[in-house]
Amino acid sequence: MTSDFGRDLVAALSAQPRSISPKYFYDAEGSRLFDRICELPEYYPTRTEIGILERSVAEMAALAGPQAEIVEFGAGSLRKVRLLLQAFEAPARYLPIDISGEHLRDAAAILRREFTGLDVQPLVADYTQAMELPAAAGPGRRIGFFPGSTIGNFTPEEALHFLQGAARMLRGGALVLGADLVKDPHVLHAAYNDAQGVTAAFNLNLLVRANRELGANFQPARFAHYAFYNAPLQRIEMHLVSRERQDVTLAGERFTFEEGEALHTENSYKFTIEGLRALAVRAGFRPGPVWTDPARLFSVHWLHAP
Ligand code: AVI
Repeated sequence: MTSDFGRDLVAALSAQPRSISPKYFYDAEGSRLFDRICELPEYYPTRTEIGILERSVAEMAALAGPQAEIVEFGAGSLRKVRLLLQAFEAPARYLPIDISGEHLRDAAAILRREFTGLDVQPLVADYTQAMELPAAAGPGRRIGFFPGSTIGNFTPEEALHFLQGAARMLRGGALVLGADLVKDPHVLHAAYNDAQGVTAAFNLNLLVRANRELGANFQPARFAHYAFYNAPLQRIEMHLVSRERQDVTLAGERFTFEEGEALHTENSYKFTIEGLRALAVRAGFRPGPVWTDPARLFSVHWLHAP
């Protein structure tokens, strides 16, 4: 298997328990399904975070100062960064970083058209690994932007490592970080078990992708989407659970799933405000203001990078 996905899936199926990184959800179909998840009535994070950003962006603009450079980790939906670009005083440059070059090019073209004069410099890179940013374009601060609580899809070690790298890259500036909060487990459970089954399709699409890209022969109908809140570990876990004993072939190897055996596909950690701020301090940030919604579902943090 030459692709990372192929190597990681063979390794996942060869181990016990079986577990693979959630980054493999996002092929074209997975990204489309994720966009649909963001619109679901049960999936509160996206619209809650947008509401928080709308209410706090003027304060953020004052903290950022003029001619700031916005570095976005992952080129997600343009809706969120647009709020920053509109509110900040004469932003000098926008540097979106993503592993998907195609997605980046599309996003860059749209924003160049919308914000004439804005220097848009997309960077095709894996922002979870150590990387160097181009030299600062001007005198403004460098402001990182990592919305959506994607930090919750990292392991705690990966989250610390990412934040340490971000603190280094953003020295003298700050990071705007979105983090989903711990809350009533029933609200969390519903957000990952929507009535329309979009999250189930998103989870099962991993198997469809493996069949198409790696020549595997998963039968998605023989697996169940299973998502639950693990309260002691403060995380949603998503699994694909085998409905029966079955064999799957991948890369010339046969892997048996017993009835009830699972492939763990995602963790989505939830945070307390204090816990997130303590993690940021460990990574080298000095926590600034934090904004939340009236129901305290979600949080957005301003973290100074000294
Ligand atoms: C991208 N990430 C923050 C989402 C989450 O909530 O952890 C991915 C997702 N998985 C299931 N639904 C949404």
